[in-house]
Amino acid sequence: MNNILQSLLSRRSVRNFTDRQIQDEELDLILQAAILAPNGRNQEPWHFTALQDAKKLRKLDELVVGKGASFFYYAPTLILVSIQEGNAYEKEDTACALTNMMQAAHALGLGSVWCNRINGNHELDTKLGEFGIPQGYRVTGTLAVGYIKGELPPGRIPKEGTITIVRS
Ligand SMILES: Cc1cc2nc3c(=O)[nH]c(=O)nc-3n(C[C@H](O)[C@H](O)[C@H](O)COP(=O)(O)O)c2cc1C
Repeated sequence: MNNILQSLLSRRSVRNFTDRQIQDEELDLILQAAILAPNGRNQEPWHFTALQDAKKLRKLDELVVGKGASFFYYAPTLILVSIQEGNAYEKEDTACALTNMMQAAHALGLGSVWCNRINGNHELDTKLGEFGIPQGYRVTGTLAVGYIKGELPPGRIPKEGTITIVRS
């Protein structure tokens, strides 16, 4: 099977990471996949913040879920997607960018998982400047990325009955 299709069909969410930081070249490719994702009217209303500073990562966890817990499974890299406030395609553009990044990470042999804790929390939004979120942008999704600890989960068995094909 074509490599890209094989990759699309085998990606899984990963929630176990080693402590080792990903390489700069890997991060760069993941971010390239993000900024080249399709987006409504090509407005590119987004910003991508890659947090790799262990102290800041723990501080963010503490702010979001409290001490001693991690909403992104202690991954060494967390990429925060933020969108300019008021953009009409906020959710759609976020999903396209995150999907591209998950697929890029998988193609590089890395693990990733979409972590949904910051978005929609407007009180939190005002406290994210110190984590590299530009003013006037709202975090709409985050992606934990790292080397997989253990094995990639086996292929998912999708729900049945979710496809209809209408042919003449
Ligand atoms: C919009 C969205 C939000 C998600 N939020 C979380 C989350 O907060 N924490 C988490 O562990 N996984 C999260 N996931 C991952 C899903 O649980 C996962 O994609 C789903 O169970 C299917 O498994 P798979 O990705 O391995 O195919 C999220 C996925 C999406 C698309």
